[in-house]
Amino acid sequence: MSSSLLLPPASLATERLEALAAFYAANLSLSPRFTKGSRWARRVLAGPGHEAWLLAWLPGQGTDLHDHGGAGRPSAAAVAVVSGELTEFTVQPGDFPGLQRKRLAAGEVSVVDDRTVHGMRNLSDAPAVSLHVYSPGLEAMRTYLLDETGLAPSKILRAGEDW
Ligand SMILES: [Fe+2]
Repeated sequence: MSSSLLLPPASLATERLEALAAFYAANLSLSPRFTKGSRWARRVLAGPGHEAWLLAWLPGQGTDLHDHGGAGRPSAAAVAVVSGELTEFTVQPGDFPGLQRKRLAAGEVSVVDDRTVHGMRNLSDAPAVSLHVYSPGLEAMRTYLLDETGLAPSKILRAGEDW
């Protein structure tokens, strides 16, 4: 067996992810669809050490709080808003974790390191489209519940099964 098989997957620096998300958002030919049940997601590109997903959000649609792979094989990410507006909620770690809220307009990019727990929602009254780059490619997300007792892991969602 080659020792290279034991190496972890390549990871791109967050600055590179940010640049790729902005580049793909501006230059890929994107055909989002909007679905009433939940946000729509489609992988649009797989490149060296990363992959890109297109997401489409009707008003009110969003994610639970989640990380990008938990302790096993986490991915960092960059999210570029292509059109519309999204709101990102990021957990601030600590004994009493709180949520930081950030509005992202079209053209803005948010970077998420591989330990961050966050969620996104379209709180506007118009559809929104976003381009997400993950490195390494996203295999799993762990969802969380946040209440007055703190942050508690909830479900594991896996690529190819749950989205
Ligand atoms: Fe995420």
